[in-house]
Amino acid sequence: MARILVIDDDSHALRLIEFALTKAGHEVVTARRGEEGLQKAFQQPPNLAIIDLMMPKMDGYEVCRRLRQNERTADTPIMVFTARIQEIDRQTAMEAGASEFLTKTATPDELVSKVESLLASKVGVPRAEARPGQAIALFSLRGGVGVSSLAINLAVTLAGQPNQEVALLDLCFLSSSVPLMLNVRPKLSLAQLSREDTTISLESLEKCMVAHSSGVKVLPVVPSLARAAPISTKTVERVLSVLKSGFNYIIVDTLSSLDDMTLAALIHSDQIILVLAPEVASIQATTVTLQAFRSLGLSEEAIVPIVNHTFAKGGLSLGTIQGALKRPIKAVIPHEPELLIQAINSGTPLVLSQPSAAMATAIQKLASVLSLS
Ligand SMILES: Nc1ncnc2c1ncn2[C@@H]1O[C@H](COP(=O)(O)OP(=O)(O)OP(=O)(O)O)[C@@H](O)[C@H]1O
Ligand SMILES: [Mg+2]
Repeated sequence: MARILVIDDDSHALRLIEFALTKAGHEVVTARRGEEGLQKAFQQPPNLAIIDLMMPKMDGYEVCRRLRQNERTADTPIMVFTARIQEIDRQTAMEAGASEFLTKTATPDELVSKVESLLASKVGVPRAEARPGQAIALFSLRGGVGVSSLAINLAVTLAGQPNQEVALLDLCFLSSSVPLMLNVRPKLSLAQLSREDTTISLESLEKCMVAHSSGVKVLPVVPSLARAAPISTKTVERVLSVLKSGFNYIIVDTLSSLDDMTLAALIHSDQIILVLAPEVASIQATTVTLQAFRSLGLSEEAIVPIVNHTFAKGGLSLGTIQGALKRPIKAVIPHEPELLIQAINSGTPLVLSQPSAAMATAIQKLASVLSLS
């Protein structure tokens, strides 16, 4: 099922398209004006947009251009669906950024089948080739504050955005919980891969990855009780750089320790989400972490502190936490006791099983903040 935005000033046409797509199992969002359509698209990017050309005020060409100019919708597949049949209209639409041009002489079945093939072909600007992917590590020096839960839900949310390839690198070799939370069984682990870093390629990494139904590809280090890190800092650096060449996002679940392997992952990530619970011990651990980051010369802008309400009551206020850390908190994840436990036990991430739950909404918001930066 895809979320499809249909922009057409003719309400009769709008209803017909909506009916055909809904019947085919898609979720349809409609707009009767270009401006209204753009607003809806930027708020929550659809998986595909169907746009009429002749509309009052802002025409379909302009809507295409503006969708392409915006970071959030630059890759969204666009089908222009119009009564205009001239070759010049098709050309102008394609130049404006349309991925497909279909005239309104098409039957509803033809429209649906074109939509399906456009969705399957993932047309759009190939983001992975256009710019290297972003590695986003989630970290807390204090364990049990929800780092893994947030990592899997964030990865799945980003993978739900149009044309986004997402890898989830699980570096928690002592206490790996990603495979359990996503109910996937890794075949090969990174540690079993070649010892020669230079031979690590996207193909060899793909062999170790296991795909979740959301599209997220999980790369496990190795579930092991060994105390020494199973891979070297050089390997971590190489793996991240190779993953950045093939994925839009690499989400990294880390150990709650500042060992060399974890530090290497943090240093080579573009953003670090520092997770803390609203309690004194967590604030203390975060303060130590920030000092360590400073001494390593990590960029302040790369650090995104967020609060996760892992317990129900009695947490410190946001003001107290921000005052103690001397920096703003970028997101607050609410407490979600039963639903999260259910999600973990069933192996289906909360953002998929309960997308309207408060915690899921907060994670979706965090994902949109990250994808804009
Ligand atoms: N927002 C929340 N509301 C309620 N419970 C939460 C929330 N976030 C996390 N938890 C619970 O906290 C516990 C720890 O979560 P999780 O395993 O994700 O943390 P972690 O930081 O990865 O832990 P570890 O240090 O063991 O790797 C889990 O039982 C999880 O259900
Ligand atoms: Mg964890």
